[in-house]
Amino acid sequence: MHDTINRRNFLSKSLGAAAGIALSGNLAKASSKNKLPDPGKFPVKVIASRNGFEATRLAYEKITSGEDTLDAVIAGVNLVENDPNDHSVGLGGLPNEDGVVELDSSVMHGPTHRAGAVAALQNIKNPSKVAQLVLKYTDHVLIVGQGALRFAKAYGFEEENLLTDDARKIWLKWKHTHSDRDDWLSPPPFKEDPFGEEFFGRITGTIHCAALNANGDMSCTTTTSGLSFKIPGRVGDSPIIGAGLYVDNDIGSCGSTGRGEANLQNLCCFAAVELMRNGMDPKDAGLEVLRRVANKTSESHLLRDDGKPNFGLSFYLLSKDGRHAGVTMWGPSQFSVTDEKGTRHEDSAYLYKRSE
Ligand code: GLY
Repeated sequence: MHDTINRRNFLSKSLGAAAGIALSGNLAKASSKNKLPDPGKFPVKVIASRNGFEATRLAYEKITSGEDTLDAVIAGVNLVENDPNDHSVGLGGLPNEDGVVELDSSVMHGPTHRAGAVAALQNIKNPSKVAQLVLKYTDHVLIVGQGALRFAKAYGFEEENLLTDDARKIWLKWKHTHSDRDDWLSPPPFKEDPFGEEFFGRITGTIHCAALNANGDMSCTTTTSGLSFKIPGRVGDSPIIGAGLYVDNDIGSCGSTGRGEANLQNLCCFAAVELMRNGMDPKDAGLEVLRRVANKTSESHLLRDDGKPNFGLSFYLLSKDGRHAGVTMWGPSQFSVTDEKGTRHEDSAYLYKRSE
């Protein structure tokens, strides 16, 4: 797949879209403020959630060697999908309440504006690769469950048990301790319990990775094992285009980790890219969607006594001109970046501070 862009097309499409939503004042201001580089001179950049440190490094290397931005970010997140010690993604991901690992992923290619996704996929550790095949070889965007598994096997993916021994013990600990109104007695039957309190709560860890190449083309992917101990068949935000990720090659990209249900109810990544289209800085756009989520959260089990949301939600934003940000509901927190200055963690901006 080739990332190519005609700069004149880019500018005219961008301005036309803005006129369509009647916010040309803001956009005109943003366009004149952020004059875009010529093709070949955009600042190459890859960003990811905190667990994507090595993913950004690998994707950057691939992009600077001439690989397509989507191929590069997928290769990056495959490192984490293949890592049995990351319990939020792929092999070693935490299972559903029945002890079965179910994976969700989406990919989006800026230059073609095409997307692919799979949800509730079992036994295949690289759902991002399967999502890319949906994008490339079907006229669909999202394939789920047994259909997604059959689709992956048709392309030669081999089934494997994704529930590692550590993930199985964490799941069993949850079964033993999450309720005193069932027949699972606590404590769990392990001589040593290496997992402490870290996994006592439910986790919604995920990896998102987005890239910009020197021609100004962008792509992104999000991949996850979803909410730990979920009801079987539950699908989160990660495979939903506009929620788990979104890229408009003329404007920028956004991806998400954290409580998927809150994101699904607000379609945050699409909203954030639209805010960037209207001239907002990536950081301000991300904080604005977090504010919307906080304002729209009304269920008592999701609110603290002081009325603030009791869950985590984070966004990773990259604009066409190379500005980037990580934002999170509860900070401090960090995200990963690789660009000409190297690979590093940077602090995310946050709506609320954890000690508050
Ligand atoms: N954001 C991951 C999930 O909720 O499934």
